[in-house]
Amino acid sequence: MSDSPKKKESTDTCTLIIFGASGDLTQRKLIPALYALYTQKRLPKAFQILGVSRTKLSDAAFQKHATEMLEAPEKDFVGRLHYQTLPTTDSSAYRELKDRLQKLHNASDLQDQNLMFYLSVPPSLYHTIVEGLHSQKLHQGSDKTYRRLVVEKPFGYDIASAQKLNTQLKNVFAENEIYRIDHYLGKETVQNMLVLRFGNGIFEPIWNHHYISHVEITAAESVGVEARGGYYDGAGALRDMVQNHLMQVMGMIAMEPPTSLEGNALRNESLKVFQSLRPLPSTAAALSKVIIRGQYEGYREAENVDKHSHTETYIALKAHIDNWRWAGTPFFIRTGKNLPHRFTEVIVHFKPTPHRLFQKICSPFDNNSLVLRIQPNEGVLLNIGMKVPGDGFCVQPVDMDFHYKDLSDDPLPEAYERLLLDAMKGDNSLYIRDDASEACWEYLAPALKAFAQDDFPLAIYEKETWGPEAANTLIASVAEGKWRNTL
Ligand code: BG6
Repeated sequence: MSDSPKKKESTDTCTLIIFGASGDLTQRKLIPALYALYTQKRLPKAFQILGVSRTKLSDAAFQKHATEMLEAPEKDFVGRLHYQTLPTTDSSAYRELKDRLQKLHNASDLQDQNLMFYLSVPPSLYHTIVEGLHSQKLHQGSDKTYRRLVVEKPFGYDIASAQKLNTQLKNVFAENEIYRIDHYLGKETVQNMLVLRFGNGIFEPIWNHHYISHVEITAAESVGVEARGGYYDGAGALRDMVQNHLMQVMGMIAMEPPTSLEGNALRNESLKVFQSLRPLPSTAAALSKVIIRGQYEGYREAENVDKHSHTETYIALKAHIDNWRWAGTPFFIRTGKNLPHRFTEVIVHFKPTPHRLFQKICSPFDNNSLVLRIQPNEGVLLNIGMKVPGDGFCVQPVDMDFHYKDLSDDPLPEAYERLLLDAMKGDNSLYIRDDASEACWEYLAPALKAFAQDDFPLAIYEKETWGPEAANTLIASVAEGKWRNTL
């Protein structure tokens, strides 16, 4: 839901201007998501897309390129796609952009149109683009229209660059007009964490350090960096996955109940989680007790990767949230490329019963756990102990297993569908606020610094294994702590 809609905005028009439109995000994610919304009749009536990039393309060539992933798209949708080459970054190019936008709207006053700018370009270009928009006053709507700026990750490289970027964007757009996208927040299964926790009475009373021994958050990928070496080698797993996606998931799991679903109510609560994180140690020796970094064998041979690269493709991290609810309950975060399977899940491990009545008899069962499967095989699984039929009291773990596919025959919507629609509606609750992004960068700063100095241990792991052995020792620091590697 939007925060304080101060003005009566019309929602039946929207022109989406995509910068970097010739890139693959437009073709793979944005256009398919927009087309799905179009076929469900959820887009504003007067909806148009203007692709912008340096590449010279005609409208027809852009339409063909952008819709390549769609099967027989409707002509009416394709006709809503337009293209404008932006050959330079000076203000004359932005004047042409403005002229083009004016033509698209039959020369009516642009101030009467809703414009949403989507930056699917490297962050180093954000500043130039917003300045260009500013030079032509394209950032200014009227009382009845909105201007919104959607930016892709990575949002900064560290705390200093994120702060600088925020300042640059906020020189032109207000914070509530800036939508920092994190596609994990667009995933149904991530949003469902809020429903599971706050829509059911049974979980919240036990959702704390009295009952939960530790929480595991894993995003395992079976692919390597493939053709993305150029970007990835300058980023690494900590920046690429932890600073944004996995910390946001931790925010959802650990937050206090928000007062409402308003953008700021929700985001205030996840911010408090980030602010309660126990600072990471500043010496490499102490840090290596809570962070394990690894690189898969052969990574250095990937295209556009430095032959001596120390960039990590694997991270395991033990975090503590020092607040009333979570004191003494560690959160283990793990992500890696080229692991045996692809899955993302959260496992909430409950403490054992105070007295282990059956353990001495025969019981391979330890503790209850609740598995929130973000992907694939989306669902929720509760692991409980049950009596094995027959004499005695043997306890066996069994799963109560819910699958999303049992809820509906329709496939789960793509994250970008939800996020793009929310942005058009002015709902920023699933977008990252400036302070949250900065708090996450600040938390990770000691690790980024230690990694940059290259004396921090980097374990090389074989492809299709579960990463460095030290990560097993890390999680074994809690009683019976083991990563869950099963699908
Ligand atoms: C992206 C990262 O943000 O998320 C990629 O840049 C990663 O490196 C991807 O592969 C994972 O997303 P998903 O939705 O496949 O889990």
